[in-house]
Amino acid sequence: MAAQIIDGKAVSAKVKEEVRQEIEREGLEVGLAVVIVGDDPASRVYVNNKKKACEVCGIKSFEYALPAETTEEELLALVDTLNADKNVNGILVQLPLPKHLNEEKVIERISPMKDVDAFHAANVGKIMIGNYAFLPCTPAGCMELIHSAGIDVSGKECVVIGRSNIVGKPMAMLLLHENGTVTVCHSRTKDLKEVCRRADILVAAVGRAGFVTADMVKDGAVVIDVGINRNAEGKLCGDVCFDEVAEKASYITPVPGGVGPMTIAMLMKNTVMAKRIQSE
Ligand code: GUN
Repeated sequence: MAAQIIDGKAVSAKVKEEVRQEIEREGLEVGLAVVIVGDDPASRVYVNNKKKACEVCGIKSFEYALPAETTEEELLALVDTLNADKNVNGILVQLPLPKHLNEEKVIERISPMKDVDAFHAANVGKIMIGNYAFLPCTPAGCMELIHSAGIDVSGKECVVIGRSNIVGKPMAMLLLHENGTVTVCHSRTKDLKEVCRRADILVAAVGRAGFVTADMVKDGAVVIDVGINRNAEGKLCGDVCFDEVAEKASYITPVPGGVGPMTIAMLMKNTVMAKRIQSE
């Protein structure tokens, strides 16, 4: 039986519409600063999409496009300025940064109350404890997709492939908070295929086109594809071999149109949350 496709575009539109209504209803003035350093084409696309989403939701966006040669001092000085700016509720520094800039140092400089990515150690710690204001955007988007399909995580075998700070680790934590039994796989995992085959919910966040094949997927599994890759023909694709896995899964997210739009929708939610925290 073919899997049902979870439509990330539709779910993200709904989340953004809720955010828009909330802002309109309460007459909130919300601002998001997006900082991009250098001219990575993928980062440019993401940043443009974030700006568009801000327009849809009624959030003011302030873009800072800095040259690749920007020094760490200059970038940190901009973060300081944005931290102090009352019109800026959220600050997002698009990653990856050029190699000469220390990402960790830059992230730690962002005020935790404006850290709408939830990358700051203070926010990561709160997520770990389960008492958080901001959810990390991509994992939160995955959870929203899982919920939208009416799937209950409690008691399920959940396998996350990938252990990045941005996706894998926080994803594991959110699944755990909903009482999933969680395994995190990575490049050193033995018998990766066997571990993945146990999964009721399989989350692929590897960054390699076609990494997850049908033989790694249990019949009826829910498959969430976080990957955004280009295949040999230059076509956008996820980490999952979509056609063959869709034959076995019960639910699957497509790429494009799955997790990607959700990340941005959750960013909008976090930005309104930032406004609320700052108004307390
Ligand atoms: N680069 C890839 N994904 C993200 C994200 O969610 N936030 C930021 N700041 N950079 C990214």
